[in-house]
Amino acid sequence: MGLLLKNGRLLNLKTGELEARELRIEGEIIAEVAERIDAAGHEVIDLNGNVILPGFLDMHVHLREPGFAAKETIETGTAAAARGGFTTVACMPNTRPVIDSPELIRYVYETTAKEGSCTVLPYGAITKGELGEELTDIAALKAAGALGITDDGVGVQSSSLMREAMRVAAALDLPVVIHSEDEDLAKDGCMNEGVVSKRLGLPGIPGLAESAMIARDILLAEDTGAHLHVCHISDAASVELVRWAKSRGLKVTTEVTPHHLLLTEEIIDRTDGRDANMKVNPPLRSEKDRLACLQGLLDGTIDMVATDHAPHTEEEKQRPFATAPFGFIGLEIAFPLLYTELVQQGTLPLHELVQKFTVNPANVFKIDRGSLEAGKVADLTVVDLEEEREIAAAELKTKGRNTPFLGKKVKGWSVLTINQGRITYQNH
Ligand code: DOR
Ligand code: ZN
Repeated sequence: MGLLLKNGRLLNLKTGELEARELRIEGEIIAEVAERIDAAGHEVIDLNGNVILPGFLDMHVHLREPGFAAKETIETGTAAAARGGFTTVACMPNTRPVIDSPELIRYVYETTAKEGSCTVLPYGAITKGELGEELTDIAALKAAGALGITDDGVGVQSSSLMREAMRVAAALDLPVVIHSEDEDLAKDGCMNEGVVSKRLGLPGIPGLAESAMIARDILLAEDTGAHLHVCHISDAASVELVRWAKSRGLKVTTEVTPHHLLLTEEIIDRTDGRDANMKVNPPLRSEKDRLACLQGLLDGTIDMVATDHAPHTEEEKQRPFATAPFGFIGLEIAFPLLYTELVQQGTLPLHELVQKFTVNPANVFKIDRGSLEAGKVADLTVVDLEEEREIAAAELKTKGRNTPFLGKKVKGWSVLTINQGRITYQNH
């Protein structure tokens, strides 16, 4: 017996048209997509005219396992992913212990198989313990199933070590995913360096701490032939550098978070630097930087949206701004936020936003996902574009509550998510 989705509208990702289609799933696979499918013998779900999209991919999340179960687990993080319409997430290795061995890559796959509500692709660390001193066994990480290598959470300070990592990764055809941060420039900053940090007397992180590292790594990528993927871009000069790299034909790709597209340091000013739920790394920057990120997303310089979902406990986020940990949750609210703020405002057509959650990350990371055709794996989400609902702490599946967006009213919530033919989220 198959699963038949009736009364839905399928978004054509090329033309933007909404097409009345029924979709039949058999096992893990989309068996049929047609205007009418005979319901006999199938379990039917009525989609009430809601919109069917390929399941989203988020190439940057922190699931916190192993080691930080108070912040998140694979079980809670992937449940949040499913609620947010995601069917594939790539998780960061800054766990305890750091995911820097084949055993730990396998641990993530095994735990996901038991407890997960979406496909999880782990990154392996570039350096042992993310300490920036000694390379991991990159070939062994790849053999165990690592999607790429990254020391996310910290930048790799040594240029020669990064060059060697890129040489090895290039030979293995493995992406090098960078958290671009020059520690000497960032020092112990806790927010963007600028007029607001000066007024509040908080130590600043200059945009240069990001852009200077991106410049270095673009040149190293050219030197080694590696695929460089720049995490959470946030600064105007950084966007310009990626644009330049792409114009030279280099294998350089990048992502931007919803918060860097929608917020600036101004919200920290408004609350006098008293709320660490506004603290994230890279920091919320100036309006000029925000607009440069938006322009980069619109013109294709920035390939995709990624959340950098980074849950922390409430106790940690109640600490003073300077000492609380960096990070926002994002999985459950990324699509509704950007649908509401970009699509409904007329900045970006729906199908282009959806591309940045689906085909674009799939293509960049060579994952066979992001389209809804017969024969493909049944990874999809159904969104209600009409009903407006508040972002409510009580409804979150993630353990984290750390987001400046709580209380905001948005549209575009998922009502059904299916991962490999299995219902992973249903509401309605
Ligand atoms: O805000 C952030 N949180 N930025 C990072 O780079 C790391 C992340 C985390 O792990 O909490
Ligand atoms: Zn991160």
